[in-house]
Amino acid sequence: MKRTFFLTACTALLFASGAFAQTAPMAGSAKVEAMIKATFSKASPEWQARIELDDTQRLCTDKRNQVSAAEAEVIQKREAASVVFPADGNLQGDWKKGYQVANVGTGGQFSDAPNGPVGGNCFACHQLDPKELSYGTIGPSLTAYGKDRKYDPQTMKDAWAKIYNSQSAFACSNMPRFGAKKFLTEAQIKDVMAYLFDKESPVNK
Ligand code: HEC
Repeated sequence: MKRTFFLTACTALLFASGAFAQTAPMAGSAKVEAMIKATFSKASPEWQARIELDDTQRLCTDKRNQVSAAEAEVIQKREAASVVFPADGNLQGDWKKGYQVANVGTGGQFSDAPNGPVGGNCFACHQLDPKELSYGTIGPSLTAYGKDRKYDPQTMKDAWAKIYNSQSAFACSNMPRFGAKKFLTEAQIKDVMAYLFDKESPVNK
C-alpha cells in the first residue's frame, strides 16, 4: 500500500518534470506538492517543514531551473547573503577528516540513524582523489583543485562560498546548500576545504 502510493507520487513527479512530454506538464505543481505533502502527512513537523519550498526553490521549480539572467541575479544575491565565513579567518581544517566529509553519504534521510554520521557526499557528484574508483559526474571533476588554482586565496574564498551556498554562485544549482541549510557544520566545511586545498591532500597529488 505504502509502496504503491510512493510509486504513484513518483509517476506524477516524472510527468510533472516533463521527462515524458515536452509540452505542459500533466499535473500542475500545486497538485504535485499536495501529493508530496500527503505522502509525508504522518512525518514529524520538522520533517514536514523540510518539504516547504523556500523562495529560491519556488522560483527554480516554477521555471524548471530555466531562470532568466535577471532572476538568476536575484537568486544569487539572496543566497550570497546567507554565506558566513569563519570568524577566525581560517578556511582550512584537516584534509583527512575532509575525506570523510566528502565520502560519507548518510545524514538527513529517514533511513539514517538519528545520531549517525552526516557527510556531504561530494563523491556522489564529483571526482576528487584521482585514485578513488567510484565517483559521480553530475558536477565537474575537482581533481587537483587547489594545485591547478595555485592555492590562490581568492579562489579559496570562492570555494567556501560555493560549498556554503552553491546557489550564491550558480542559480538553481543541483549542488546542496551545505552551510546555509545547516547540513554541514563550519568545522566540516573547513575540513572538506582542506581536502580540496591542502598540498598534502590526495586531491592535489
Ligand atoms: C548533487 C550533486 C552535488 C553534490 C552532492 C556536490 N556537488 Fe559540488 N557541484 C555540483 C555541480 C552540478 C557543480 C557545477 C556548478 C553548479 O551547477 O553549481 C558543482 C560545483 C562545485 C564546485 C565549483 C567547481 C568549479 O567549477 O570551480 C566546488 C568547489 C564544489 N562543487 C564542491 C563540492 C563539495 C566540496 C561537495 C561536498 C561537500 C560537493 N561539491 C557536493 C554538484 C554537486
